[in-house]
Amino acid sequence: MASDSRQILVTSALPYANNSIHIGHLVEYIQTDIWVRFQRQRGHRCTYVCASDAHGTPVMLRARELNVEPEALVDAIRAEHQRDFAGFGVAFDNYYTTHSPENEYFVQQIYSRLREGNYITQRSIRQAYDEQAKMFLPDRFVRGNCPRCGADDQYGDSCDVCGSTYSPGDLVNPRSVLSGAAPVERESEHYFFTLGAFEASLRDWIGSGVVDTGVAKKLDEWFQAGLQDWDISRDAPYFGFRIPDTEDKYFYVWLDAPVGYLASLKNLADETGQPGVEHFFAPDSPTEVYHFIGKDIAYFHTLFWPAVLEGAGFRKPTGVFVHGFLTVNGEKMSKSRGSFIPAATYLAHLNPEYLRYYYACKLGPGLDDLDLNLEDFVSRTNADLVGKFVNIASRCAGFIQRGFDGQLASELDDADLYAHFVAEGDSIATHYEQREYGKAMREIMALADRANQYIDEHKPWVLAKDPDQAARVQSVCTQGINLFRVLLAYLKPVLPVLTEKAEAFLAAGELDWGARVTPLLDHRVQTFEPLLQRVDEKAVTAMVEAVRESASAASANDDTPAEETISIDDFLQVDLRVATVVTAERVEGADKLLRLTLDVGGRERQVLSGIRAAYDPAALAGRQVIVVANLAPRKMRFGISEGMVLAAGDGDDIFLLAPDSGARSGMRVT
Ligand code: 2FM
Ligand code: ZN
Repeated sequence: MASDSRQILVTSALPYANNSIHIGHLVEYIQTDIWVRFQRQRGHRCTYVCASDAHGTPVMLRARELNVEPEALVDAIRAEHQRDFAGFGVAFDNYYTTHSPENEYFVQQIYSRLREGNYITQRSIRQAYDEQAKMFLPDRFVRGNCPRCGADDQYGDSCDVCGSTYSPGDLVNPRSVLSGAAPVERESEHYFFTLGAFEASLRDWIGSGVVDTGVAKKLDEWFQAGLQDWDISRDAPYFGFRIPDTEDKYFYVWLDAPVGYLASLKNLADETGQPGVEHFFAPDSPTEVYHFIGKDIAYFHTLFWPAVLEGAGFRKPTGVFVHGFLTVNGEKMSKSRGSFIPAATYLAHLNPEYLRYYYACKLGPGLDDLDLNLEDFVSRTNADLVGKFVNIASRCAGFIQRGFDGQLASELDDADLYAHFVAEGDSIATHYEQREYGKAMREIMALADRANQYIDEHKPWVLAKDPDQAARVQSVCTQGINLFRVLLAYLKPVLPVLTEKAEAFLAAGELDWGARVTPLLDHRVQTFEPLLQRVDEKAVTAMVEAVRESASAASANDDTPAEETISIDDFLQVDLRVATVVTAERVEGADKLLRLTLDVGGRERQVLSGIRAAYDPAALAGRQVIVVANLAPRKMRFGISEGMVLAAGDGDDIFLLAPDSGARSGMRVT
């Protein structure tokens, strides 16, 4: 290892152990894995740990639903996640679990140090309680009408329609999602972490450049809003670690989740003898610690977590790298559109290295969302990886094999061109280091174009026809294979499987970053095997179909009996009418709403409808819809809504209901 070698600890966020990994998750794991592989290729010691995020109410309830112990659910999902990550070449040094003795040890150590530092306070709070399910309800487990706009079936913490935020106690007609019962308010003693005590040092830490500018801006807003005490306790029943000296209080999952980074590291250190928590987390540690996360969990990682670390006498992270979300074909992932693609489904149809490369092309260091456009995915991957990169080797290898028994020439044909390829490595390395993968890929592909141009100019296939030009053929193809090898070094962090095959062909050991400087001359390469197939468009279509089919099978199998029934009289109270859309327009300032003017049997009325994501207002005029005509007018933030337009939806997609042709405006639906 080089003397300037760095000692780096890297983490990706710990996935919850109640659901499968999908291509949205993979943005982060692929981003992290590329960075880790790059650091190692540069000769640094880089440890990459992760784990299952095992605790919390959703895992507990999912286990109940499946009639298994939560531990068994966590074990099964952890094994599934490990299999999927391995399938995508994400090479953790350790993939552990937060439901582990190591994690309990650190959580208790941290908690007792925080208590000693007077960073824990206790007070009683009022919270929604489900008397039937006999448990306190997290905000997301209470649903009802939005207190601001009246929209139906909104979560207890925020409204999807008007965007307002509130507490579950503010909902109109609140219901527990567990039992359907109206929750009551109950008092309970809770434990809080005094985040505000760390404001000054958090500001210093942020100021030292640990996060990208977009995140720093967000943090400014949070500082201005004021740092509130953080509730770190939950009441039984809860799947988690019990708080010492209490009967029925548990640590909130978000307290023990990041501690899982330490637990996974300790488990690795104990099993392998590698440096562990003392080495990486001592306050004066010379090592570097980086967390890769999504933008939805930035608050936890840039405020709570560093403050907890400091309060417990540990060092704070060197950097928190925050990425945006994935969209597919420009839209939120959706099961019915076939774009909510589980990792395993992708792997059943397509080579993981296509996705690694495509994400690399799209990734930068900022918070921007990243779009996987499936058409672009096929054409770019084929054009770049197969058409440009692999093509360099396949154009040259045959001549070397057939004409020279695999032996490369003893000199390069164009040493300057080779030197140019080597020199570009500095800027490509800087891009990798700064997570500017998109820029790195563009520079690499520009070099690939240059290499192909070199081969086009020298035409080994023409030279090979003339026996007097044999030496030229060998030297041109030696140049081509060496240019390919430099590019392979640059793509190695992104394409580990292809690299392994190409390293076997080159037969010169593992290609580290420095090795590219010295070309392979007077050297025998092995038989060339095809390195990568073209992406088959049909496989992409089959994958999308498979997702759609499993989504529709899942909804057809959803035979949960209705919990409650209503009488025919109840139903007849709802006056459903056929209406014709006269005009439709966007509502300024409301992301989800369209303002519809409807004709209902000759009478016009205005309805605000949350269908903007699915419908272009211009295409709606003249369409017939079904409207609840006797709904009391509701005053919303953006005006009065006189009725409700019916639509079917699953949280992802929205489909307006329409009568068959021939229906007339004003007709009653019976
Ligand atoms: O948001 C999530 O999916 C969490 N399970 C991430 C936890 S990251 C770390 F803090 F454990
Ligand atoms: Zn609302």
